[in-house]
Amino acid sequence: MEFNIKKICCIGAGYVGGPTMAVIAEKCPEIEINVVDINKEKIDNWNNSDLTKLPVFEPGLKEIIKRTRGINLFFSTEVEKNISKADVIFLSVNTPTKTSGIGAGKALDLKWIEASARQVAKFSKGNTIVVEKSTLPVKTAESIKKILESSHYGENKNEFFVISNPEFLAEGSAISDLLNPDRILIGGDNEEAIDALAGIYSKWVNPKKIIRTNLWSSELSKLTANAFLAQRISSINSISALCEVTGANIREVALAIGMDKRIGDKFLNSGPGFGGSCFQKDILNLVYLCNFYNLKEVAEYWEKVIQINSWQQKRISKIIVEKLFGTLTNKKIGILGFSFKANTNDTRESPAIKICLDLIEEGANISIYDPKVSSNQISNDLDSIMTNKSKDKFGSWQIGLSVSQVSQNADAIVVITEWDEFRNINWKSIAIEMRKPCWVFDCRNIVDKKEAKSNGINVWEIGC
Ligand code: NAD
Ligand code: UGA
Repeated sequence: MEFNIKKICCIGAGYVGGPTMAVIAEKCPEIEINVVDINKEKIDNWNNSDLTKLPVFEPGLKEIIKRTRGINLFFSTEVEKNISKADVIFLSVNTPTKTSGIGAGKALDLKWIEASARQVAKFSKGNTIVVEKSTLPVKTAESIKKILESSHYGENKNEFFVISNPEFLAEGSAISDLLNPDRILIGGDNEEAIDALAGIYSKWVNPKKIIRTNLWSSELSKLTANAFLAQRISSINSISALCEVTGANIREVALAIGMDKRIGDKFLNSGPGFGGSCFQKDILNLVYLCNFYNLKEVAEYWEKVIQINSWQQKRISKIIVEKLFGTLTNKKIGILGFSFKANTNDTRESPAIKICLDLIEEGANISIYDPKVSSNQISNDLDSIMTNKSKDKFGSWQIGLSVSQVSQNADAIVVITEWDEFRNINWKSIAIEMRKPCWVFDCRNIVDKKEAKSNGINVWEIGC
């Protein structure tokens, strides 16, 4: 069957759907792309004429949106209409960990995927390629096919071609990852449908980088890639603790091992543990799948990666309490960075959330500054957890508007996110504002230790 792709509909206007469709729109001006979402506020923000209000902050995104929006890229809540006119539909909805029922705490919650597949089954017309862009458990394509085929009763005899095309972009570098991907993975069982999708990417990606596999390899490769990346971070973080007690330096160790080509030098930065919406949920899902297929040892192996990650976050909170004479009651602590990594406004699973809550629980009054995360978001992240406990026992949190503001009268500053702004802090003027004795806890190894120390600040660095 020949496919002539003129219209794409992407269901889900989030961190993946928005930037991915923006790049396809830029590279394929002949294709009309409609990104739909049930969240009206998000769609309104995607359509906002003030580009600083886009719901996703990514370097380079607003420039592409400026060039494509209203030309061949459209954001709307009209799900039905846009599904019905699309030749290709990307499913790019959220797939978080289930919070209740069978598999709670491990399996992915597929209710949004199922709901969108049902909408596709109901409203699509003509032969349609359905692309799994969301990260999904192995064999989900089978369920999607069944849902789609259930629409074959009555008049509707259109055919569906389900393809797995997982996304590998990282937040903070989404646009450059999309423009210059390491590979594009397309899994499926219909050659023509795969060719049609590959044809879109080949507008800007070298065809040698476009890999074709069966559906199940594609679905599993995405989970495995995230598990391997997260494992690297847990590995280096586990060694950071050993460095601290032996006098070794984690940066020197990372440099030495990373020069071995078989190991490679990327993704070896020790830190406060990995955050983000995907690593933990995808490994938990891998663990769930392994248990489902009775591979207990494999499940336990991957579970350890998450355990080390939680341990690393707790370890940092404990060190802070210990260094500040065992109590944080009525002490002010400045927090630098709340997003889970630099260059994004995303706070999902950010290590900052757990570290801040630990410090508040110890009685500290914390003041948080992040260049891109809104105060509403910080409030959602912290207050939703705090309300479940008795607030009276705890310290407090407030927003700071600058590095200088969070440092005023602070006993300590904790650098949690590696924003560039925190690499060049003038420690001389910050030291004057802090209460003595004062500390900087550098969870990212970015502080100019020499300068901070020479201005009378005690410095703790991860892995040193
Ligand atoms: P997100 O929460 O930012 O966006 C998902 C969007 O889907 C939300 O805006 C939600 O309102 C919308 N949605 C849900 N059900 C819908 C429906 N029935 N109809 C219309 N809209 C609906 O999520 P995300 O970060 O973009 O992640 C999406 C998927 O991509 C996940 O499976 C994730 O694992 C995967 N992924 C994410 C990243 C990343 O960096 N965030 C990278 C690679 C893969
Ligand atoms: C990750 C993967 O890198 C992407 O390939 C994948 O598509 C995505 O998950 C996904 O499936 O959602 P992301 O979570 O956006 O991307 O960002 P990463 O750069 O991978 O960082 C994840 C976490 O690890 C962050 O908290 C970061 O600070 C931490 N990290 C990363 C380190 O602590 N050290 C490092 O060396 C690298």
